Amino acid sequence: MDNPFTLTFGKEPLSIINRDYEINEVYESFISPNPDSHTFLITGVRGSGKTVFMTSIANTLKKDRNWIVCDLSSDFNLIKSLTVNLNSKKEVFNIIKNAKINVSILGFEIGLENQMQANDVAVYLDKILSELTKKGKRVLVTIDEVVSNKNVREFVSLFQIFLRKEYNIFLLMTGHYENINCLQDEKTLTFLYRAPRIAMGPISEIEIANNYEKILGVDKLTSKEMAKLTKGYAYAYQALGFLCFKYKKSYKDILDKFDQHLWEYVYEKLWAKLSAIDRKIVNVIANDVNKVEKIRMELGMNSNTFTVYRKRLIKKGIIYCPQYGYLEFILPRFKEFVLDMYC
Ligand SMILES: Nc1ncnc2c1ncn2[C@@H]1O[C@H](COP(=O)(O)OP(=O)(O)OP(=O)(O)O)[C@@H](O)[C@H]1O
Ligand SMILES: [Mg+2]
Repeated sequence: MDNPFTLTFGKEPLSIINRDYEINEVYESFISPNPDSHTFLITGVRGSGKTVFMTSIANTLKKDRNWIVCDLSSDFNLIKSLTVNLNSKKEVFNIIKNAKINVSILGFEIGLENQMQANDVAVYLDKILSELTKKGKRVLVTIDEVVSNKNVREFVSLFQIFLRKEYNIFLLMTGHYENINCLQDEKTLTFLYRAPRIAMGPISEIEIANNYEKILGVDKLTSKEMAKLTKGYAYAYQALGFLCFKYKKSYKDILDKFDQHLWEYVYEKLWAKLSAIDRKIVNVIANDVNKVEKIRMELGMNSNTFTVYRKRLIKKGIIYCPQYGYLEFILPRFKEFVLDMYC
């Protein structure tokens, strides 16, 4: 039997824990005759499952004949990419043909990329979307790992206009907290500011334990211990399962390999993005000082300054507040990682 767990990012795993509640929130809104929102921003720490989550919504909608799904990348001109993408779909092309949109004037016959001027592309896209909306079709644009660059700003600006025209266009974007924040702070993209965010929280430890028990054949108690060790972190669930399956060993005997994967593929990257003060704070927490008051005292920080750092570390998905006045790491083995960085 092939390993049902995976170490690969960005691909739907064979062994998946459902996130039906959050998926339905987006899905129900999108398929509603009067959607509450045409946009959702999916945020979360690296490896929390943003791409898998978005892919699963996109795949469900791809099966629906009323939906046209276009997966785009913020590395390219998004307005052009969407136009080319739509134009290349047979069902859209037929609608364009029947609507007699004069594509040749815009240079379509000789290739879109080089011939069309930016403004012409936007006008053409507007016409396509208007026709698709008249025909009751809905278009979903997905952008994975969005950044606040010119491509995205231009696209989102035009998207706002399309929404005002009541076109059936929808947008799903994933991104790390800093990038999503940066985009939402853009003064010109006001509608994004109000766009709902879906934060990728932990997956169910109960389901994790059940899957470990079933797939790895471990007993109930062990499966619970393993689930606890992952803290519901999606990547940790896959990595721990993958290593136990591969080496046919108890989880206790592959802990060093588990750590190595977490360190190398996630934590070192997270660490690189922490400021010197963020690092000092996590170091205090790693040394088992969890009471906010005590952490502040150790760092000689006043309450207002500390609140800014605390909020940011929570939003980055590194710490959480298990009870009022206390902080803990949300990620598994992060304490060990931080101690290791300081030794
Ligand atoms: N619902 C889930 N159930 C089980 N495993 C999951 C689930 N979602 C994601 N994973 C696993 O977690 C890992 C990370 O998933 P994914 O690539 O979607 O994370 P991400 O948040 O997009 O990360 P990045 O910020 O690096 O892009 C992958 O190995 C994936 O298989
Ligand atoms: Mg991703």
